[in-house]
Amino acid sequence: MQQQRGQWSGRLGFILAAAGSAIGLGNLWKFPYVTHQNEGGAFVLIYIAAVILVGFPIMAAEVILGRRAQHSPVGTFSILSRGRPGGRLWSAVGFLGVGAGFIILSYYSVVAGWTLHYVLLALQGKLATLAGDPGALQDHFLNEFLASGTQQVSYHLVFMAATVGAVYFGVKNGIERVAKVLMPLLFAIILFLLVYSTTTSGFGDAMRFLFRPNFGDLEPSAILEAVGQAFFSLSLGMGAMLTYGSYMQKKSSIPRSVLEICILDSAMGILACVIMFSIIFTFDLEITQSATILFTTLPTVLVQLPLGDVVLGLFFVLVAFAALTSTVSLMEVVSSFAIDELGWNRQRATLVMGSVIGAFGVLSALSLGANSTLSELNLFGKESTGGVFSSLDYLAANWMLPVGGLLIAVFVGWVLKSSDVRDELETGHGPLGSMFSMLRVALRYVAPIAVGAIIFSIIFLGAEYQ
Ligand code: TRP
Repeated sequence: MQQQRGQWSGRLGFILAAAGSAIGLGNLWKFPYVTHQNEGGAFVLIYIAAVILVGFPIMAAEVILGRRAQHSPVGTFSILSRGRPGGRLWSAVGFLGVGAGFIILSYYSVVAGWTLHYVLLALQGKLATLAGDPGALQDHFLNEFLASGTQQVSYHLVFMAATVGAVYFGVKNGIERVAKVLMPLLFAIILFLLVYSTTTSGFGDAMRFLFRPNFGDLEPSAILEAVGQAFFSLSLGMGAMLTYGSYMQKKSSIPRSVLEICILDSAMGILACVIMFSIIFTFDLEITQSATILFTTLPTVLVQLPLGDVVLGLFFVLVAFAALTSTVSLMEVVSSFAIDELGWNRQRATLVMGSVIGAFGVLSALSLGANSTLSELNLFGKESTGGVFSSLDYLAANWMLPVGGLLIAVFVGWVLKSSDVRDELETGHGPLGSMFSMLRVALRYVAPIAVGAIIFSIIFLGAEYQ
């Protein structure tokens, strides 16, 4: 049943693929928005603390698990739990992860599809015209585009096909090759926009807003929000990093790689903030709590800048790339499950699972206005989560990921033998000394308490995180 398992060509391949998974809509859209809602400065600092205290340890835990067991999440937990407290019950964490990957991919791909539509509009020269008139763009997006079932489904399926394509060719020839081209391109576009934003008059205000902490303004709930955001942005809690870790070579250093991925992902979120807030302050924009700021507000501003239509096109190319390297990681979790546990070959696993997820995602694609039954279906009885799309997002991001992350931290912190954890971490790195004790404290106490507090607040305070 076992066929030759894929491997990254080296540490760089792993880092770019994992950073590609982490960097996505979570950084480019969600992070600037929650930062704004939480008054900037102090929130950015707290977010960085959350990445260090919770994100880094849990990501390290996932990579340790994957590289030790060399399996998908389900196989990993059933192998490593043998003879340990809880036994095979732990495989449930793997199934939870595969389920979360399935669900998140089905609706994430719908939003990712929107970026394709915008790239296409830009190539046709229509985007600049639409964006020139804010009313026209908003009308196009909300009333024509979201309401068009054909378009929503088509772009979603095209994006799924691109995702399946990259995963089909395997770890080294597909995922790694895509990431090696797209990630540097993404960094280049971000850098270009960053230089661009320094020339805008709102740049100074943006820097003050982001980097001058004012702890007086900070709500206590911001701490939990920072942890939740770190979690989603770093792709934690469902085995994506575990799966990528399973393709990592033994000679590569886990602590160093994880540190670099955390730095890249955080830098991307912060740079996205610098760029967007420079624009927002330059044009004195109001930000509403709407998912559409990226698609309706920002274009109308970018297009006003010199070379606006080029900037605009580049910007959506960037978002599409960022989304593709993220959907690839979600797909890989589901595919590797079928490869490792069901014994399918990669091609079959990817095509079959990709088709099923694509078909399931049609429900989300149609729930944004095209079909009234699907738009109103409220699966979890929460007022704020109407429609299949939001219901699935709520289920996966607010429940499955935090629960998965908590269990992963507990498994590595309490259930696995400490000497095994240490051995895996030091393989390819060398002796860790007291760094290991710090990581252990983070995994045993800090991360479970922080993530447990999030779950608690969702249950008892009705809070929402993504
Ligand atoms: N981290 C990605 C983003 O910021 C989304 C993502 C990809 C993800 N894979 C994941 C989130 C796995 C949680 C789990 O957009």
